[in-house]
Amino acid sequence: MSAAPLLPVRHYLQFGDLSADEYAHLFARAAEIKRKFKIYEKYHPLVDRTLAMIFEKASTRTRVSFEAGMYQLGGSVVHLTTGDSQLGRAEPIEDSARVISRMTDLVMIRTYGQDKIEKFAQYSRVPVINGLTNEFHPCQIMADLFTFIEHRGAIAGKVVAWVGDGNNMANTWLQAAELLGFTVHLSTPSGYEVDQAVAGLRSSACFKVFESPLEACRGADLVTTDVWTSMGYEAENEARKKAFADWCVDTTMMQAAQPDALFMHCLPAHRGEEVSADVIDGPQSVVWDEAENRMHVQKALMEFLLLGRVNA
Ligand code: CP
Ligand code: NVA
Repeated sequence: MSAAPLLPVRHYLQFGDLSADEYAHLFARAAEIKRKFKIYEKYHPLVDRTLAMIFEKASTRTRVSFEAGMYQLGGSVVHLTTGDSQLGRAEPIEDSARVISRMTDLVMIRTYGQDKIEKFAQYSRVPVINGLTNEFHPCQIMADLFTFIEHRGAIAGKVVAWVGDGNNMANTWLQAAELLGFTVHLSTPSGYEVDQAVAGLRSSACFKVFESPLEACRGADLVTTDVWTSMGYEAENEARKKAFADWCVDTTMMQAAQPDALFMHCLPAHRGEEVSADVIDGPQSVVWDEAENRMHVQKALMEFLLLGRVNA
């Protein structure tokens, strides 16, 4: 098959790469695609299309959700890692991008710096999707928003409490808040704050900073957190364990939130570190729906990037 794109190439490198209207379309498509999946209704719009998945960091959910999702849409996948390709032997990113994008229709990359995925996209003739970088994790936030909407309806005007590291997830929550009109209550240990410039925000209107994680949770509609040490930062693990000791989402924090507040975590989780077992395994937690929804929203995203606005 030719990898010549049928549509103008759109990349999904950060949350702000799509408009609010396009997210509304994607959430509606994800719901329909999920409905078909649940009743084994065949939906194969991507027959003969190939997704290349490039992993420079470990993954369970991202790998399974993209791979299973692409097969369910009738397409196929190629899985590459740094260790088993020339990516680990210093082939220039631009050369890898030119070659891989001539043989496939779509590329998903999990890597370190955002600059790497941006460079790949610059030389790719097919759409590139961010499967996590040090700076952003847009597919995860899309799944989190879809999960919130499924359980509670529209997110506009709501409050999301972020308890923990000012990392790729926090940055992406902030981009989503700015675009979709909700507020993030941010509480990070000193030295691990969000950098507004890295998050790529136009202003600081979409977030409020709290020294106390408990105060950040007060009145929140959703409480969410993430690992204390993200991939690529393992050398800081011991220092982070000390700095983050008070940033564990527990039942006291959940009780400060709205009575019907949800708890989310992108996973993998460390019970007893960033979240207590009774919260993540408790009645307000929707982490398993959240993980499953990665697949449904990404199927909607792949459909959109390859076929445009579909209404099947
Ligand atoms: N949440 C998430 O991206 O999980 P993986 O690291 O397992 O892909
Ligand atoms: N912030 C975490 C998310 C893992 C899905 C990391 O980057 O490792």
